[in-house]
Amino acid sequence: MKEIVLASNNKGKLAEYRAMLKGYSVVTPKDLGLTVDVEETGDTFYDNALIKARALFELSGRPALADDSGLCVDALGGAPGVFSARYSGGGDADNNAKLLKALDGVVDRSAHFECCIVYYDGNDIISATGKAYGRITRELCDRGGFGYDPLFLSDDLNKTFGEASEAEKNGISHRARALTALMDLLGADNV
Ligand code: IMP
Repeated sequence: MKEIVLASNNKGKLAEYRAMLKGYSVVTPKDLGLTVDVEETGDTFYDNALIKARALFELSGRPALADDSGLCVDALGGAPGVFSARYSGGGDADNNAKLLKALDGVVDRSAHFECCIVYYDGNDIISATGKAYGRITRELCDRGGFGYDPLFLSDDLNKTFGEASEAEKNGISHRARALTALMDLLGADNV
């Protein structure tokens, strides 16, 4: 089975990738005793994912996968975008509070989550993008999830990502959609 290194040690992400990339053995930097510490200096999700995939390939010598994702709010010109994790300078609660404040009195609350995944094996760069559309709520609707989940009312689910079960979210999420598209490009089922 072909080995692929994922630029994340996050257990949830790892499980999702392992479930989808059937023909591959997905390992993490931690499994290989590696630490990947790169600055995400790109202007786009693609740029940042490529920076991470390249760095991981150079370090591990193995085909590498990296993703980058975030929330893009139409009324804010696509912000917080690539700055989603560091929008407020604090954690998830501060990010959510800052977003609600930025949208105070704003009627058009349309937004989408976007995820770009890049595969790099030293020769080929293969990438795929997935999006999930919805609207930003006027208050936190929280039962779980992370990041902006409690504020994102999904068009697909008709509930917030914070209220959705893991399975519901994984069926339609930006990450799942990007991963499905990438899997097709890699021919993962046929390996
Ligand atoms: P990452 O690139 O997957 O680490 O995501 C960067 C940031 O985007 C996270 O820290 C969250 O703030 C936000 N984000 C990305 N995906 C999601 C999601 O599915 N739900 C909520 N927030 C997300």
